[in-house]
Amino acid sequence: MFLASQPFPRTASIRRGDPAAPVHLVIEGDNLSVLERLVEFQPASVDLIYIDPPYNGTSRHLGYRDDHAEWEENLRARLVIARQLLTRLGVIVIAVDDSEIGRLRVLADAVFGNRNLLTTLIHQGDVNSGRRFTGGGVDYMVVYGRSKQSMMDADVRWREPKVGVDKILKAGAKAWAQSKGSADQATTLLRKWWTGRKYKFSGGLGEYTRVDEDGRVFRIGTLGVPAGRGSGRYDLLHPSTRRPVVPPPGDWVGPPRTLHAYVEQGRILFGPDETTTPWRKLFLDEQLDEVPVPTFNLSRSEGTKHLNRIFPGETRFAHPKDHRVLARWFRIMAGPDATILDFYAGSGTTAEAVMTLNAEDGGTRRAILITNNEVPAAKQKTLRAAGSEPGDDAWEAHGVFRSVCRPRLETIVTGVREDGSAYIGPVYSENVDFLRAP
Ligand SMILES: C[S@@+](CC[C@H](N)C(=O)[O-])C[C@H]1O[C@@H](n2cnc3c(N)ncnc32)[C@H](O)[C@@H]1O
Repeated sequence: MFLASQPFPRTASIRRGDPAAPVHLVIEGDNLSVLERLVEFQPASVDLIYIDPPYNGTSRHLGYRDDHAEWEENLRARLVIARQLLTRLGVIVIAVDDSEIGRLRVLADAVFGNRNLLTTLIHQGDVNSGRRFTGGGVDYMVVYGRSKQSMMDADVRWREPKVGVDKILKAGAKAWAQSKGSADQATTLLRKWWTGRKYKFSGGLGEYTRVDEDGRVFRIGTLGVPAGRGSGRYDLLHPSTRRPVVPPPGDWVGPPRTLHAYVEQGRILFGPDETTTPWRKLFLDEQLDEVPVPTFNLSRSEGTKHLNRIFPGETRFAHPKDHRVLARWFRIMAGPDATILDFYAGSGTTAEAVMTLNAEDGGTRRAILITNNEVPAAKQKTLRAAGSEPGDDAWEAHGVFRSVCRPRLETIVTGVREDGSAYIGPVYSENVDFLRAP
C-alpha cells in the first residue's frame, strides 16, 4: 500500500499490466526533496529500500573539509528520512565498496542503530590478477532492519529455495512413474540419474538417492545421538517381526512418543528384520528452502552485458548492478507484495529486479525509483566543448534518467527499444508512471 494519489506531476505512463496491478513510480529529481515529500505523504510505508549511492561527492561547492565529509553529510540526511519511510518490519540494503564500508557502517549505525544491523552481504566479483595485495573485486551490501527486535518478535526468517531441488524431485517423480509403484526399482532408476551429476549439486543434496513406497525422494539419517545427549535406550519393535531392533550406538534421538510418531508417519526405514538398525528418512520435499549464505561469487559483468542488449553497441551507463542479484535478495528479504524503494536508481536496475520477481512468482511488488538526470563526467566534457550546458535540451538528453532509466524501463515493458527495434529479452507486463519532481 503506497501513494493513493500521485505526489508529483506525471510526464509519461505505460499500462501493460493488469489494471488492478500496482503502478511502479519512476521519479526524476533530486532524491532529498523527493524523499522529504514522500515521507510527508506516507511515512512507514516502504518494506524494502535498496540503494547504491555514488561514492564520494561530485559537487565541491558546499565548502566541506573533504569529499568524505560531504559524502557522509549528503547520505546522512537521506538515510534519516529513509528510516522514517520504512515499515516496522522494513529493511534497508546499502551497496558499498571497500573504500567506503568503514565510514558507511559508522554512519548507518548512527542512523539505524547498531542493534539493527542484520548482515553484511559479500559479493566476490571478477578477480584482477595484476593487483598488488589481493585480487580484489569485493562489493558489500550492508543490511539494517528498521527494528530487528520487531523482526524477531514476528519470527521473520530469511529463506530461499535450495538450488536444484526441483530437478531432483522431477527425476524422482519420473523414476517413480517408470517403476510403476516399486520403491526399489524407482530407487535404482534415481541412482542411475544421479550418476555423474552429483558435482552439480551443492551441500548434501547428492544424498537424496532413494524413493519410498509413497514415491517420495529421501535420504537416510541416523536415529542415534551420542550417549547422554538423547532419550536413552529403550525397545523399538520391528514392524513385521515385532521384536526389538538393534538400536544405533548411543541414545535414541527422541523419546518413545516421537519415534512412534515417526513409525506412524512412515519416517523410519526398517531393515528386513530386527537385526538391522533402522534409519530415519529425511524427505526432500520437506527440505525445499535453506537459509541464505551471506557471501557469493558472481562475475560483475552481467549488469553491463544486460544493458547492452537494451542499448546495443553503446555504453550509456557504467557499472549497472545485476538485476538478478538484486532479485535474489529482494525475494529473500521482502514479501511478494512489497513496496521497494531505490532513491539512487541510476539505470533502473531495481525496477527490473522487481519486475523479474513478479513475473517469476506472480507477486505484486511495487518499485519506487528516484534518480536525478546526471550526465556522466566524460560526456559533460564533450557537451561543454560543443557549447552546451546544464538545462539545455542537448545536455539533459544525455542524463541518466532520460537516456538510460526511462528508455530501459520502456523497452523491457513494451518490447520495443528506443530506436524502434524489437527487444528480444524478457518483457514484463507491468504498469509504470514517470513523474517529475519540480
Ligand atoms: C552508483 S549509481 C546507482 C546505479 C544503480 N544501482 C544501477 O544499477 O543502475 C548512483 C546514481 O545515483 C544518482 N544520484 C546521485 N545523486 C543523486 C541525488 N541527489 N538524487 C537523485 N539521484 C542521485 C546518480 O545519477 C547515479 O546514477
